[in-house]
Amino acid sequence: GEHGANGPGAAEASGTAGTTGDASVTSLTADPERPADVRVELVARQGTVEVPGGRSIEGYTVNGVSPGPEIRARQGDLIEVEFANESVTDGATLHWHGIDVPNAADGVAGITQDAVPVGGRHVYRFEATDAGTYWYHSHQVSHVQVERGLLGAIVVEPASTEPADAVELDATALLHVYGGQHTLNGRVADERVDAPPGATVRVRVINTDQGTASVWSATPFRVVAVDGHEVHEPGEVDGQRVLIPAGGRADVAVQAPTRGAVRLHVGGARSMLIGDPSAPEASAPPVSQPPKTLDLLAYGTPTPLAFDAAAPDRSYDYVIARRFGVIDGRPGNFWTINGRMFPDVPMFDVAEGDVVVMHLRNDSGDVHPMHLHGHHVVVLSRDGVAASGSPWVVDSLDVRPGEAYDIAFVADNPGIWSDHCHTLPHAVDGLVAHVMYE
Ligand code: C2O
Ligand code: CU
Repeated sequence: GEHGANGPGAAEASGTAGTTGDASVTSLTADPERPADVRVELVARQGTVEVPGGRSIEGYTVNGVSPGPEIRARQGDLIEVEFANESVTDGATLHWHGIDVPNAADGVAGITQDAVPVGGRHVYRFEATDAGTYWYHSHQVSHVQVERGLLGAIVVEPASTEPADAVELDATALLHVYGGQHTLNGRVADERVDAPPGATVRVRVINTDQGTASVWSATPFRVVAVDGHEVHEPGEVDGQRVLIPAGGRADVAVQAPTRGAVRLHVGGARSMLIGDPSAPEASAPPVSQPPKTLDLLAYGTPTPLAFDAAAPDRSYDYVIARRFGVIDGRPGNFWTINGRMFPDVPMFDVAEGDVVVMHLRNDSGDVHPMHLHGHHVVVLSRDGVAASGSPWVVDSLDVRPGEAYDIAFVADNPGIWSDHCHTLPHAVDGLVAHVMYE
């Protein structure tokens, strides 16, 4: 049996751009006339990948490396990526995790396009409407291709630069585990970010791995953005760690110490420490992390939402449970949504303009980082406690065993959108649903 061989999104669905409800083709694609501001060619290959630390794995590269090249754009840019599959035998795609692209550019094999076969090409075009930290990865046999390296970072810088006094340095910190080896930007060594004393360094932490990551800093810091959305007036955090769900991002701002430079150190269990490079070597690695975790539900300063979540047009239950069973001859734990497994989970129907509320509940006994494509959701409450900080806007949300979250989004991006667990083996084992525009 090849159950799940096509990974999340390989539905029987024949829905392609232009056939979704009443949405017109133009709302599902970027303006074809507009010239691109950023043009990149990305070539996927399959084979032996050298992993830092001396090992090698059977994996995937983008332009010969993993992580692949970082794409940098400015807010408002039209990005055009020509994707070529040179040798990935199962076929491959690119999905722009966290970017609310038009549906036709979403890169979900079996839903928005066919997987690109060996020798094939596919052009993605989308406008970088929102500044922020994102990443790209294959969405074909994703539990294998993403885990083994078919991924990279994409950063959209704000259109307007900050006032001149806010010296801001920017560093990407992509966390990934290759064959058991924890890496930072594909390396095991600490990274040093040179910065004038007192300068603010924005560290864009991207968790591309399969489980929760944690970040903390030896000096006070601020979480300035989550999943590409700025936190409103974030307060200073000291002695607490920030958790980042699989697929999620956190932009953390730290002040460079008087001797300048900031050190980024990756440890085990997907943990990262931001520290002072002048501190003695022995004090750098996070032997034990701060016991307390920053609760983003109450972090930052409240500011009104752009929509009224109190009177939703639709609301849905999304109850995750565990089912032990044998599927295609394979015994194990599988995951259900409202009692059904992918591909038998009914679509969550929406209409353009709807305010949609989802009641997530996790009765499964395991954590699930839930990821909705094409939209950003606002966390309204957890276990009945209302959010009390800055709007907590996410595309990837860890729902822990026993937890219940109410989340809301505006249906403003017509198409068919995957809504799945980003611990990707869980997606193969049932945890995939879709939001579908009528
Ligand atoms: Cu980053 Cu459907 O995934
Ligand atoms: Cu899961």
